[in-house]
Amino acid sequence: MSKDKLVIFDTTLRDGEQSPGASMTKDEKVRIAKMLEKMRVDVIEAGFAIASPGDFEAVKAVADAVKTSTVCSLARAVDADIDRAAEALKGAETSRIHTFIATSPIHMKYKLRMEPEQVLERAIRSVKRARNYTSDVEFSLEDGSRSEFEFMCRVIEAAIDAGAGTINIPDTVGYGEPGEYGAMFKRLIEAIPNADKAIFSTHCHNDLGLAVANSLSAVMNGVRQVECTINGLGERAGNAALEEVVMAVRTRRDEFPVETGIAAEHIVPTSRLVSSITGFPVQPNKAIVGANAFAHESGIHQDGVLKHRETYEIMRAEDVGWNANRIVLGKHSGRAAVKARFEDLGITFDSQDALNLAFARFKELADKKHEIFDEDLQAIMSSSSAKNIVEKFLLVDMEVVSKTGQKPKAKLTLQVDGRDVVTEAEGSGPVDAVFKAVESVVKSEADLQLYSVNAITQGTDSQGEVTVRMDKSGHIVNGIGSDTDIVVASVKAYLMASNMLASPSAKSHPQRDGV
Ligand code: KIV
Ligand code: ZN
Repeated sequence: MSKDKLVIFDTTLRDGEQSPGASMTKDEKVRIAKMLEKMRVDVIEAGFAIASPGDFEAVKAVADAVKTSTVCSLARAVDADIDRAAEALKGAETSRIHTFIATSPIHMKYKLRMEPEQVLERAIRSVKRARNYTSDVEFSLEDGSRSEFEFMCRVIEAAIDAGAGTINIPDTVGYGEPGEYGAMFKRLIEAIPNADKAIFSTHCHNDLGLAVANSLSAVMNGVRQVECTINGLGERAGNAALEEVVMAVRTRRDEFPVETGIAAEHIVPTSRLVSSITGFPVQPNKAIVGANAFAHESGIHQDGVLKHRETYEIMRAEDVGWNANRIVLGKHSGRAAVKARFEDLGITFDSQDALNLAFARFKELADKKHEIFDEDLQAIMSSSSAKNIVEKFLLVDMEVVSKTGQKPKAKLTLQVDGRDVVTEAEGSGPVDAVFKAVESVVKSEADLQLYSVNAITQGTDSQGEVTVRMDKSGHIVNGIGSDTDIVVASVKAYLMASNMLASPSAKSHPQRDGV
């Protein structure tokens, strides 16, 4: 039986970036976009062009860099937003403007302070305006899952008449339940006379842990586009995870009437890239991309898998990119091999100096660690200097004494604006001691919201990657540090976060930048 195409719309760079602390630089967005393109994602939502000059530049850079996926910018149903989105997308081979307005009674009354008729007018006007710039226009009914059926029918019919080719009905607040959400699409598609002129789309948030289930239920009921993010990153509890949607449809092809064009072997490397750029670790038991997703611990399971793999495995780890193309580099690897591997991971260098710096960091790591894996290379590129963060504070030297029965002591030399400063502190553990010593110098006065350590690869000589999330009066930043010594990695992460807080150019949450 021939299957319908399921359009995969990735919004990691837009909704994903709305996670507090997950903001990405323009170059980082381009790196992720290139990986998404390689994975054959159909539509990449690169940002919200009007949100800030930084967002505009990032959408523009992604539009210029990506050739085969459609590049999209979000825009409220406001003329200025649509014009700005179109401006940012000018360089794209194929572009989409995604315009939205809320249609639920609660949003219209309290947030928009608009009558339903005014909302309808705006929807029509904005779709028409967007169509002046591109033939590919998506219209979203924000808070659609809590909107009134009859009103949605009117708005959707009018938006399609005005030229919208995709109609997205988000479960903005993650309130939907699979049966009800799927049935809503079926009813809408049956009731709207011109429904066959548009692709219906889902966009689900995960507040009740139902984002993927809701998306898949919608697919079973006629939806042919799923909006999702890598690792399920996104506003609050996140969005539907791309890897879960894609692999559910593929693994249960007996059930789903659709297929995606996704090259699944790029899923794990892309997940790693997003995690290392944003500093949001992937939980070990996360489906598809978690470190334990394919690990069999129980003896019965191991025995079964050894006898016949499919006794306990429904997917093959290599099909989603675990251990795919695993070229191991080491201290004898040359610049050309290292550069080529970086490029395979979507990391390119815009100058010889940038490549030299990355190569020097590679050599430094190769001196400490026998084998350098892809994840190590990605970690190298997450450091402060690779992210072009002004390094007001730098680690010069550190000594930590940790003895059973005694309070750990830390003594550090930091460089502050080029001047060496020595600092000492005691703590309840070595990490606590170094953080206290660093804080007494950097005086960030921020709240430490998250401290997490992940082994980047396997083995005791593996690098530890530490993420530190700090909040200073609502300005949230993620610092990432990696080293074979996790206390050093912790200091690097704390310093990176402090440098971001100290830097006036640090990018903040797009919605705080004026939208
Ligand atoms: O969650 C939501 O409703 C959105 C829309 C802007 C599509 O992100
Ligand atoms: Zn959303």
